Amino acid sequence: MRKLAAGNWKMNGLASQLDEVAALAAAHPDPACDVLICPPATLVDRLARKIVLLDSTILIGGQDCHPKPSGAHTGDISAAMLRDAGATHVIVGHSERRADHAETDAQVRAKAEAAVSQGLVAIVCIGETEAERDAGRTLDVVRGQLAGSVPAGAAPETIVVAYEPVWAIGTGRTPTPAEIAEVHADLRARLVQRFGPGASGIRLLYGGSVKPSNAAEIFALPHVDGALVGGASLKADDFGAIVAALSAA
Ligand code: PGA
Repeated sequence: MRKLAAGNWKMNGLASQLDEVAALAAAHPDPACDVLICPPATLVDRLARKIVLLDSTILIGGQDCHPKPSGAHTGDISAAMLRDAGATHVIVGHSERRADHAETDAQVRAKAEAAVSQGLVAIVCIGETEAERDAGRTLDVVRGQLAGSVPAGAAPETIVVAYEPVWAIGTGRTPTPAEIAEVHADLRARLVQRFGPGASGIRLLYGGSVKPSNAAEIFALPHVDGALVGGASLKADDFGAIVAALSAA
């Protein structure tokens, strides 16, 4: 399977931030993995135009979408709009949205369904809090989120799953390689159990404080098919080093 390095810019980036994409494309013109950037919604269209000008293979994603295609939902953005603006992917159920907007598994699943119905790949995020890990509940929690958030009929072409421990996001802390491997193996087994052998091709990303210094070690783990990268995706040098590590894995 082709691996995926996905950058999540979160609520960061004015137009000048697109210079980092130009630098990334110049430094890594032909990576051996898919490279995806999810800028704030305001930049999706401009990034799409820039990618064409750069003649780059970098893919573009949104960071969230509404479950409905259109309607009276002030401030929200639909999957159809993201696609129209040039996106091919969308993140759904990121822990910051689950926390800031009280999104439930059922809502995340509805968003993923909307994304897939519009032809987007949905990157479904799951992950335990520190308290849940300390209580020994990590596998219970992520299994529940996986079952509740990933829609029926998930396939490698439509769904990516990102395991992101909440306590590892933006903190510089990561689980041990053994802890990451344990969760990824369990998620893989659950996906295959539910969707059949084809689900062995559903990409499982690790996310949470991935940086150039730990990327190679994480990418060497079984069932880690790439990364969802926050802070380190904002700098072309850092994200480029992560893309290079994934290309070499
Ligand atoms: P981080 O964020 O790489 O800054 O920890 C990851 C994410 O939230 O997707």
